[in-house]
Amino acid sequence: MRSIGVLLVAQVIPYLEQELDKRYKLFRAYDQPQTAQVLSQHASSIRAVVGNSNAGADAELIEALPKLEIVSSFSVGVDRIDLDRCKEKGIRVTNTPDVLTDEVADLAIGLMLALLRRICECDRYVRSGKWKKGDYKLTTKFSGKTVGIIGLGRIGQAIAKRAEGFNCPICYYSRTQKRDSNYKYYPSVVELASNCDILVVACPLTEETHHIINREVINALGPKGYLINIGRGKHVDEAELVPALLEGRLGGAGLDVFENEPTVPEELFGLENVVLLPHVGSGTIETRTAMADLVLGNLDAHFLGNPLLTPLV
Ligand code: DGY
Repeated sequence: MRSIGVLLVAQVIPYLEQELDKRYKLFRAYDQPQTAQVLSQHASSIRAVVGNSNAGADAELIEALPKLEIVSSFSVGVDRIDLDRCKEKGIRVTNTPDVLTDEVADLAIGLMLALLRRICECDRYVRSGKWKKGDYKLTTKFSGKTVGIIGLGRIGQAIAKRAEGFNCPICYYSRTQKRDSNYKYYPSVVELASNCDILVVACPLTEETHHIINREVINALGPKGYLINIGRGKHVDEAELVPALLEGRLGGAGLDVFENEPTVPEELFGLENVVLLPHVGSGTIETRTAMADLVLGNLDAHFLGNPLLTPLV
């Protein structure tokens, strides 16, 4: 398979990059100039694209690769891939479901605990050397808080299961009510936000879920409510979120993702009612390795004529 051209459009873990390089003819295109250069010379020999949650295959790239057969994403989210265009052209698409569910759900719970118990702020306080006996302000109890989940897919359900372990009542919003769930269903995000203490975004990013967290939802969550986002930055209208946090109209936010990563609104840096992470939901050695093995397994299966491991399209 060493002669098969694979275009890597995002920086991935060294293990994946090295294995791709060993097995295929690998072209790297991490930015626009590199992409233009690779395409000008090798477009017709590239049969696969590997991307991640930052870069995938949009309509322009798909059109520029006449021999493209498969797009394999080193992520579960595929919002960077033009799925309709792939379907139209018979291009296969794979992602990395299941192997990262635990990690992302664990991190969501970690964000809830960090935010309500102000773990990061306490850590900064101790490091500042200013700790005096009895000096620190009280925090907020997490156990028993009502957790509202947007999207009761694999990750949403894993978050719910964990939160139940903290005696948290669970409620959720999704496009349709799940027949096999006993959690309380709300048919709108505003209703969900009005009836929970902690609102978690755990749905895929689509045209319908873009800015699903808007002014109305933030107001419904209110000054005692907390927002957790382990989905995609573009689920949240940051132009509404930032002033709400600054003005205390929202209790706090735990954010693993941002609208324009790696740019984070600077106004958030001075706030103690936020926990900010650099999109590390799936970022453990174990999980990223398992994700890499799925990418490799899917490509190998495709080019050997075997069934794909995790086909989406
Ligand atoms: C995913 O898999 O979509 C995650 O966001 C990557 O960390």
